[in-house]
Amino acid sequence: MSGSERPEIRKLREMKEKALLGGGKVAIEKQHAKGKLTARERIELLVDPDSFLEVDMLVRHRATEFGMEKKWAYGDGVVTGLAKVGGRRVVVIAQDFTFMGGSLGEMHAAKVVKAMSYALSTGVPVIFLNDSGGARIQEGVDSLKGYGDIFYMNVQASGVIPQIAAIMGPCAGGAVYSPALMDFIVMVRKTSFMFITGPRVVKQVIGEDVDEQQLGGADVHATRSGMASFVANNDEEAINIIKKLLTYLPSNNMEDPPYEPTNDNPNRMDPELDTIIPEDPNAPYDVRDVITRVLDTGTFFEVFPQWARSAVVGFGRLAGRVVGVVANQPNFMAGVLDIDSSDKIARFVRFCDAFNIPILTFVDVPGYLPGTRQEHGGIIRHGAKILYAYSEATVPKLTVILRKAYGGAYIAMGSRHLGADFVIAWPTAEIAVMGPEGAAQIIWRRELAAIEDPQKRAEKLKEFAQEYREKIANPYVAAARGYIDAVIEPKETRPTLIKALEHLITKREIRIRVPPKKHGIMPV
Ligand code: HXC
Repeated sequence: MSGSERPEIRKLREMKEKALLGGGKVAIEKQHAKGKLTARERIELLVDPDSFLEVDMLVRHRATEFGMEKKWAYGDGVVTGLAKVGGRRVVVIAQDFTFMGGSLGEMHAAKVVKAMSYALSTGVPVIFLNDSGGARIQEGVDSLKGYGDIFYMNVQASGVIPQIAAIMGPCAGGAVYSPALMDFIVMVRKTSFMFITGPRVVKQVIGEDVDEQQLGGADVHATRSGMASFVANNDEEAINIIKKLLTYLPSNNMEDPPYEPTNDNPNRMDPELDTIIPEDPNAPYDVRDVITRVLDTGTFFEVFPQWARSAVVGFGRLAGRVVGVVANQPNFMAGVLDIDSSDKIARFVRFCDAFNIPILTFVDVPGYLPGTRQEHGGIIRHGAKILYAYSEATVPKLTVILRKAYGGAYIAMGSRHLGADFVIAWPTAEIAVMGPEGAAQIIWRRELAAIEDPQKRAEKLKEFAQEYREKIANPYVAAARGYIDAVIEPKETRPTLIKALEHLITKREIRIRVPPKKHGIMPV
């Protein structure tokens, strides 16, 4: 046989060559024409060279109805395998739209579940690149069973391994619930969409005219629904976002997030911080300027940058160690807590806690947003999630009060009372039940009412507000009680936090005795 290839080996090679083509050359061209890469091209961009170990390449569906016996491809519309990204192990699942629109049948689902089981049992992140027409219509309940199995796996994996989804094409109907159960979603502009029911059904049922992008495009989910944690302009960008995100995450909940040495001096003082808070206590400023000045240079990576913008969340590093940053954003609706920003903060805090990421909170919050829209929309229930998430979190919790910390929002935003380990305040902090003007109008209501001249009344109000500010709305009352550990000059923030984090990193939670329980009931 020497010199000529054995027929068994040739057969295998031919099978593999066929598998590499998925749904075939024409379908691949169509995929490219839409501005999308194929599943294999996406994997190639994502993983380290030569690191991909494909699993189940030769899986085929078992359906025999509706012409399915003639319609098949090796792989059944999804490519799965083990790989490395930045030298770290991951599991990759990439749906292949070129075969039957990446639709999910029995065996397609079985591959996904097997890949997720690998990720869970070996403790590595799972990356799921979605591009699918949803449940494979020809396979009926076997497809639905497949989705159910995937959702079940998503829930088992939740809080054990990071789960990252990218939406790189259609994702409709019940299919949306797998990404929804994962930790982060990256959506690609123009080529991807997510919705429960598509435009045609929307038109039939409620008569509304809307197209796919208006209904469930990347920008809608990044700004309105809070589904897309990140938006990319194309497939390459989406893959790069996933790679960057991974650098902040541990591989599983038993590990610490990756440490990365930095050239940024841990003792670096930043005098600019001393003047960053405007003289006028109601004037806005961008809290991201504070965050980026305090963290290691260039490490801040914002999550949900366009949704619920009165709060800012994201990852960063302090002297090389990963922290999860939560902040109020005075630049947007004065940094108020509303329904969406409560959800955004609570979810992020829980993610950090699950994955051993210390939480660093910057507070400048006037309170919860008033009004019927918020009250009727359930701000009480949503706001409670922040309290729940911070109270439950056992990772090191560090809090910096920059300016306003009023009422319930003061308590909610990582206060000592919810278990923060290290709380510092700037001299500009105003810790009180409410803002000085509001407080003065209640405390000195009668005195103010007795002044007839509106001009004089306004002046008196200002005076009373100042008195309130001096006596109560400052950091020193809380410092006198030990509710905050130190009042510092803003420029000292970075070195102070780094010192504190260095000590807190070995924190072991001492909990008050609570009866054994399966889990609490978060006000979802
Ligand atoms: C079987 C499917 C399919 C599906 C697409 N295809 N979706 N085959 N089951 N769900 C096939 C198409 O027939 C076509 O096959 C090929 O994939 C490419 O699709 P095109 O329509 O040519 O592509 P495009 O124009 O880009 O449109 C993509 C699409 C559209 C928007 C996804 O195909 C579509 O609307 N499909 C149906 C979506 C749907 O209703 N899915 C069920 C959702 S309910 P040929 O052979 O012509 O190339 C659901 C329930 C899950 O998912 C429940 C979980 C709890």
